[in-house]
Parts: sequence; C-alpha cells; structure tokens
Amino acid sequence: TGMFTFDPGFMSTAACESGITYIDGDKGELLYRGYPIEQLAVNCDFMDICYLILNGELPNQEQKADFDSQVTHHTMVNEQLHFFLRGFRRDAHPMAVLTGLVGALSAFYHDSTDITNPQHRHISAIRLIAKMPTLVAMAYKYSQGQPFIYPQNDLSYTGNFLRMMFATPCEDYKVNEVVERALDRIFILHADHEQNASTSTVRLCGSSGTNPFAAISAGVACLWGPAHGGANEACLQMLEELQANGGIDKVGEFMEKVKDKNSGVRLMGFGHRVYKNYDPRAKLMQETCKEVLSALGLENDPLFKLAMELERIALSDPYFVQRKLYPNVDFYSGIVQRAIGIPTSLFTAIFALARTVGWIAQWNEMLSDPDYKIGRPRQLFTGSVTRDVPPMDKR
Ligand code: CMC
Repeated sequence: TGMFTFDPGFMSTAACESGITYIDGDKGELLYRGYPIEQLAVNCDFMDICYLILNGELPNQEQKADFDSQVTHHTMVNEQLHFFLRGFRRDAHPMAVLTGLVGALSAFYHDSTDITNPQHRHISAIRLIAKMPTLVAMAYKYSQGQPFIYPQNDLSYTGNFLRMMFATPCEDYKVNEVVERALDRIFILHADHEQNASTSTVRLCGSSGTNPFAAISAGVACLWGPAHGGANEACLQMLEELQANGGIDKVGEFMEKVKDKNSGVRLMGFGHRVYKNYDPRAKLMQETCKEVLSALGLENDPLFKLAMELERIALSDPYFVQRKLYPNVDFYSGIVQRAIGIPTSLFTAIFALARTVGWIAQWNEMLSDPDYKIGRPRQLFTGSVTRDVPPMDKR
C-alpha cells in the first residue's frame, strides 16, 4: 500500500528510546548505563549490576546493602506454587515449567497490580529478581525428584542459588567460590542486551498494561527459541554430538556442513544480529571458562578444546569472515555451566534468570514514559481482495 515502512525482522526500525544498554556492533562494544562490560565484569557482582540497570547508577555501600536486603527478603515463593509445579511431568523441559511458574506469580500479587504506580513497579521488579533463582532451582529439584531447598538469605544471590540447586537435606553444602564467581559472571553478562527478541516481547506484551509477571513470562517464552536463548543448549548439544562422532578430527567435515545452506546446520553460538565483530561477552566467557576448568581440574575438557578449534577454524574461514560471524556469548557459557554441574536442559532457564533484570528495567523504562503507547505493528496485506461468501454447495 505504500502507507507503512516494511521492515521484517526489525532490521532497521528502532521501536523505542532507551537509556539502559548500548551496543556498538561494529566495534564489539557493550555498555550498561555507560560502563563497559569488561570493567563491570571484573569490578562488580550481579547485585551491583541489577541496581545499576534498574536505577541508572552504581550503588554506594549503603544503597547496596539496602538493595541486597530488599532482594533477600523476597526470595521465598508462596507455598502454593509447589502444588502448581507438581502438576508438571518430571521430565518437562525447565523452560516450559518456568514460563508457567513466572506467569503464575501474577496470581499471588494482587497488591501490586497498579502499573502506573512507580512503587508498585519497584516491588514487582524486586520480587521477580529475588524469586527467579528460587523458581529455577525448584524446577531443577523437581526434575531430579529431590526435595526443594529453601533460600538461605545470609548467602550471596549467586551462592544462594547454587545451594538451592545442589544442596540436599542430608549433608552440609559449602559454596565453591570459583564456581560462585563464574556463575555470577554468567549472570552479569546476560543481564541486559537492549532490544533483543525477548526484551522486545516483554515491552510489547507490557505495553497493553498487563501485569509484570505476565509480561516477563512472555519474555521467558520468547527466550526459549534456539535462535535466541536456546542457543546455549543447542551449542552444547552440537559440541557433544561432534565429540561423540569423531571429535577434533571431524571438525573440518562438520564445518563443510555448516557452510552448506542445504544442510540446515548452523554453527550454534556463532553470529549475531548486532555484533559484526567479536562479542565482548564471549571473550569474558572464554576467560571464565579457562578459570573454572582449571579450578575444577578439568583443563583437558574435550568440549572446550573442540570449541577452541571450531573458533580457530571459523575465524580464518572466508565464509565466516565475509559474513562477519564471530562467537557470541552462548559459545562458551554452556561449557562453563556443564563444568559446574548444571544440566544442559537448564541453560536457557539460567539465561532467563539473569535477563529478568534487563526485562523488568526495560518494562519499567517504557511505563515511566508518560507518552508511551501500546505496541501495535501494521502489516502489508497480501491476502484476498473482497469477495462474497459462497453457499455451502458451491465451496
Ligand atoms: N552458522 C552458519 N551460518 C550462519 C550463522 C551460523 N551460526 N549465523 C549466520 N549465518 C549466515 C546465514 O546463513 C546468512 O548467510 P547468507 O547471507 O549467505 O544467507 C548470514 O550468515 C546472515 O545470517 P542471518 O541469519 O541472516 O542473520 P540474523 O541477524 O538474522 O541472525 C542469528 C542472527 C544469531 C539468529 C544467527 O547468527 C544464528 O542463527 N546463529 C546461531 C544461533 C545463535 O548462536 N544464537 C544466539 C545469539 S546471541 C544470544 C542471544 O541472542 O540469545
């Protein structure tokens, strides 16, 4: 019709204004609120990052203590959620469970449904950030047939999550500091990434004025796909399959398949809509990978070697060079998670846990704008012109 700009996949349309995350895809630069991810990853923990993303500034000591205590006071979930969870099959995919559990939270917080009230929005943000680790750990324990471990609030955010995941009522559990730091870094690197598919989903969903738990559960659902958050799971499955079928010796053959458009095979953990250079998160992840593997005595992890070899070959292959395909954050994160005992099927749920702060901050940013509008894309209609309904015997 010529009335609308046609931009499938939003290749060149900005759908909002935002002051949270900045990416320079050509340089491979990522900033949260102006701070380079390389500095944040080294100098901050995930609670600093949550505060920064939500509030725009890093917390001072007092602000941080206050924020920590707000989050820790909301880590428990209503006991009724356990019954809801029990309706799922034990082998349900954790992302199916998480989509349901997060959406179900909306049924428990009728006290804070006024999304026009900034205080209500704040409490919802804190609740979501605090409860996400509890829900993910519950989904895991349920899949294992093990009892739930309740939050322990004198631990760090990440330490508490590790305990809820791996402790049992039978023995003492001590958080391994290297593992804690590695997982905390995974959380930091996944905290926000401007208008990716799941964040745009949260904004669009939230733009109707729905409650934040419903909007975040839409984000979780979107994240699940293999082109987005599901890539970490798909990447590890790819590495395991390659390892089982010849390992390093078969890398060349595998790469031929990746480059063949008819094979349907992509190098998972590679490529990005915005980064046309090395994803800075992948570099930091690779560093963490080395650190964790060596701390856990897994220096010879064959999957890490395989990943390094795939990267080496890809970065000098014209197919990847011409298309500017580089490793993204998911290329190494699965190897780290596997090393610390997180099952592959839970990887995307961990991503969702970490991205929750970004989603909720973006949702809040949208609602704080007095001029925000419901998101309502237009279309170029390609269907039938007007016609009359034929009687049944003429169809
Ligand atoms: N392996 C092989 N070829 C690829 C890959 C890959 N991983 N990624 C892109 N290409 C090719 C693609 O075939 C196309 O080639 P051509 O121009 O000849 O048709 C070209 O590179 C551009 O790809 P595209 O699919 O048009 O690019 P996009 O911006 O629509 O997609 C992407 C970006 C991330 C979906 C894609 O690179 C991909 O599928 N990567 C693998 C999955 C993955 O790792 N996703 C995680 C992204 S980062 C974390 C997150 O967002 O959750």
